Amino acid sequence: MDKLIIRGGQRLVGTIPVSGAKNSALTLIPCALLTEEPVTLRNLPRLADIDGFQHLMNQFGVTTAIQGTRPEDFGRTMRLEATRITSSVAPYDLVRKMRASILVLGPMLARAGEATVSMPGGCAIGNRPIDLHLKALEALGAEIELAQGYVKAMQPDGGMPGGDFDFPVVSVGATENAVMAAVLANGTSRLFNAAREPEIVDLCNLLTAMGAEIEGIGTSDLTIHGVKRLHGATYRVMADRIEAGSYACAAAITGGDVRLEGAKADEMQATIHALRSIGVHVDEDAKGIRIAANGALRPADLTTAPYPGLATDMQAQLMALLCKADGTSVLKETIFENRFMHVPELARMGADVTANGRTAVVKGVDTLTGAEVMATDLRASMSLIIAALAAQGESQVRRIYHLDRGYERLEEKLKLVGADIERVGDD
Ligand code: UD1
Repeated sequence: MDKLIIRGGQRLVGTIPVSGAKNSALTLIPCALLTEEPVTLRNLPRLADIDGFQHLMNQFGVTTAIQGTRPEDFGRTMRLEATRITSSVAPYDLVRKMRASILVLGPMLARAGEATVSMPGGCAIGNRPIDLHLKALEALGAEIELAQGYVKAMQPDGGMPGGDFDFPVVSVGATENAVMAAVLANGTSRLFNAAREPEIVDLCNLLTAMGAEIEGIGTSDLTIHGVKRLHGATYRVMADRIEAGSYACAAAITGGDVRLEGAKADEMQATIHALRSIGVHVDEDAKGIRIAANGALRPADLTTAPYPGLATDMQAQLMALLCKADGTSVLKETIFENRFMHVPELARMGADVTANGRTAVVKGVDTLTGAEVMATDLRASMSLIIAALAAQGESQVRRIYHLDRGYERLEEKLKLVGADIERVGDD
């Protein structure tokens, strides 16, 4: 298993290209199930989770072809063709490794009339139930059975009628599943209190390009008029706002000056606002954003919330940055319980953070010191990298397979801006 060795203290300067968004890609890929015509997705990040999802699609009989496999390319193009669905079962082994597999439930139900998906187990950042996915699909007319660790969803005779659902809690994944199930329903569906993350907008834009009829895109009330069939499309995956925000924190903690090429400022305003409140200079233009910091960081009180609030996926990285602020910060996590697993690892590097329930108090320190640390989940791992970039001496980050799930060629990108980082085989 690989580990990363980082010698901190280098000021990051230069340009980092921002990849296609992982979370968007994971909901765009299953859209290929909704049509027998080819769907071509451009700007897909090269990530273990994308490979896993491709594998899952192959399991359903979808043929996939990848272009852009030169090692020097960032991003790839995948052509998916679901001429015939040969299986509607997502087995335990695949779902266990990749929780986002649950996103095949809606489109498979719509296209094949039934879907059987292994229930995703517990997860490091809370137990992450799927009850809202199932309730939303039921509201659209699906019949749901749970047996032997699997969810089986079936259309009633005559197909999915469509229906209304008011989400009691904003859920990105459940909204995505409901939208993908509703586009081919016989009637109109209305989703209230739907998630409106930019990734949901990306999903609705692809579906519209495939012939779907969706009103209210970008708002929390979506109206979806079912259509008889969808056709193929070619679509470019949006920029990864969380990757961009992560590198913004890395640049800021080193007092650096980094341009994030391709970042879309309007999709990451809450993160930009947080960075500015910490004293980081952020310039926005149509082609990217520039982060400049002079080393002095102010404390801040930050609370995560559904979009357009501050993304929970940015909480760990901003915490790492605040570890070096001049004063005490308070971070509140409102989306997931148990999302402070980076706290004890940051403490190994000299950070002063106390987590209690959903609140963490971060007392800024003058110096972080290199240490051996263990990555726990994707964004927590990134917070350790950010802290290590500013720490005195060498850090070793183990279990970096978490990072490979979400950051396309992390160490290459950081090297582009002068970081001292290398990947070595673990012993
Ligand atoms: C997605 C993102 C993840 C991000 C999260 C919140 C992907 C692949 N993952 O995850 O990176 O951190 O949105 O922005 O896009 N909930 C229920 N029942 C459900 C579903 C969710 O109670 O059926 C709860 C969750 O436990 C959580 C909250 O709703 O407390 C929000 O979760 P949700 O938005 O569904 O997250 P994911 O779609 O799993």
